[in-house]
Amino acid sequence: MFAEPGVGAAVDIVHSYDDATWDDSGPTRAVEAVLESGHVLAFPRLGFRFEDDERRFLDPRWADPASKNISVRWPQGELRGAVGSEGDLGPLKALVVRYAEASEALALRLFPHYRGHLRRGNSSFRPVEVVGRARSWRQDDTRLHIDAFPSNPMHGTRLLRVFSNVNPNGQPRRWRVGEPFEAHARRYLGRIGRPLPGSAWLLHATGITKRRRTEYDHLMLQLHDRAKADAAFQQTSPQAHADFAPGTTWVCFSDQVLHAAMGGQHMMEQTFTLDAAREALPASSPLAVLERLTGRPLLAGA
Ligand SMILES: [Fe+2]
Repeated sequence: MFAEPGVGAAVDIVHSYDDATWDDSGPTRAVEAVLESGHVLAFPRLGFRFEDDERRFLDPRWADPASKNISVRWPQGELRGAVGSEGDLGPLKALVVRYAEASEALALRLFPHYRGHLRRGNSSFRPVEVVGRARSWRQDDTRLHIDAFPSNPMHGTRLLRVFSNVNPNGQPRRWRVGEPFEAHARRYLGRIGRPLPGSAWLLHATGITKRRRTEYDHLMLQLHDRAKADAAFQQTSPQAHADFAPGTTWVCFSDQVLHAAMGGQHMMEQTFTLDAAREALPASSPLAVLERLTGRPLLAGA
């Protein structure tokens, strides 16, 4: 954990909306521009409801200690990371699938421009407390970062995430959010070298990456790592605390919004992927920003 943020301008990127329903009758729609310009869309009145007989799942004992994360993988729809009997795992999976469906309905109402192009990624239920997980600095998500993965090159594809705090004890999900993506890229870009020749081939050939790591993926991973390793950045860069109370749902592009999860327990999370070209304003995507700043295409060899 880091101290309270010190110097640095405040960040105001959380926009709140009054919606109280997941379905198509809710008031907010066509807010792609808000999302794509790097905001977090928060819905303090939009809770994900557990039925009475589902409330027993609000307990870390259902999560495999090795993964701490109960998830449903698509398109197969298989349950991972949960421990329990057949009779319990069926209803647990149904709960997570219901969240996936609710999130998808919400996302398609908020972002109708993405209809037909939004792909459903993992659906997760996280009953384990954020603070106290023993992890390396690179995996420490209490440090501000953009999402980028060593083994899973995205090739510019966007990561859209729908989170919901389902804590039954009044405990908020505590985040920090940080500077805009372009400012963040400018902070480190001059210090990041190009990938070594042949390295993308080697990483793929040895199975370290699922497909070739493009220069875009190299830069995103470097931004992720350099931010997390930079204690001064963590403490003094422009940032703000954002507490999401139980019953709140929030949405952002997690490959664009600098974020850190500082505390909280019991959260639902749905990931969607979207080709950057399908955005309403593709010029604001991390790929477009990085290509503009470097002055060259970054998906060569993809
Ligand atoms: Fe993250």
